[in-house]
Amino acid sequence: MKRKVSLTGIKPSGTPHIGNYFGAIRPAIELAGQYEARYFIADYHALNTIKDPKLLKELTHKLAATWLACGLDPETMLFYRQSDVPETFELTTILMAFTSKGLMNRAHAYKACVQDNIDAGNDPDAGINMGLYTYPVLMAADILLFDTNVVPVGKDQKQHVEIAADVAQSLNHVYGKELLTVPEPVISESTQVIVGLDGRKMSKSYDNVIPLFLPSKKFRKTIMKIVTNSQDVDEPKDPDTSHVFSLYKLFANEKQQAAARERYLAGGMGWGHAKQELFEIMEEQFAPMREKYEALMEDPAHIDTILKEGAEKARIIASATVKRLREAVGID
Ligand code: TRP
Repeated sequence: MKRKVSLTGIKPSGTPHIGNYFGAIRPAIELAGQYEARYFIADYHALNTIKDPKLLKELTHKLAATWLACGLDPETMLFYRQSDVPETFELTTILMAFTSKGLMNRAHAYKACVQDNIDAGNDPDAGINMGLYTYPVLMAADILLFDTNVVPVGKDQKQHVEIAADVAQSLNHVYGKELLTVPEPVISESTQVIVGLDGRKMSKSYDNVIPLFLPSKKFRKTIMKIVTNSQDVDEPKDPDTSHVFSLYKLFANEKQQAAARERYLAGGMGWGHAKQELFEIMEEQFAPMREKYEALMEDPAHIDTILKEGAEKARIIASATVKRLREAVGID
């Protein structure tokens, strides 16, 4: 039987961080055993915010190297750059005709930008370009182009996948057949929210991220910046309200977690020590991946080749979808 398809994309709009790893990259790679995996770099989505060409290129290479260092195998999984698959943009245009404007108005990400403007006393549309407004249509094209069944994403992207499903259903309904596969989001339960340095959700916009592949010394320095309360060494500490422990749990097995819990509750362990323990357990996991990452980043041309080869394979699937739709709508 044909395996179901898992597809996801990440925007190259910042340096990949621990939140991306647990929220998107690792769950996606884990699904690859069971599903036909199709993973990509959403560079046209990043263009909405990144207008510096050198930076966009650099972030694209960093993100590609991150996926590969984290275990994406381009031999067995499809891996490509969105912009290398031009069928995406043709499908976007087709989908526009089946996407109600009201659906875009209700998108949380867009609404949040409008609300920020209103709160700041600005025009509601200030700084909002059409790329941002129609973001969910391009994302729907990314998904629907590849006959996607499941989309592993963070909670914040759930609505966008639901919009893609809505659009697919509208189009299927008009032509009375299943031209597009209706996708569903997969949100990994255990890693719903990864806290950042200040205890809020780890996010580039909060400037509280722990980048994935910093050199070891810098990595340690960043971890030492995690905000804690001002309890001194002797005092017993509550693991359940500590951001340090919350991050530690992501890396530790149950036995290690239980032991750490006892050390917190017993008192006698300062925050510096707790952070050092966190650093060590993270370093253990990331150091081998960092080595791979650094080797890849030294050869960006090789990364480009991997992405181009992936796009060639991706376009075979993508052009079949576009052909099917053009015929169905009468533009062939
Ligand atoms: N919007 C996603 C994010 O910001 C990135 C993305 C673009 C995506 N296209 C996609 C995710 C298609 C899943 C499927 O994280």
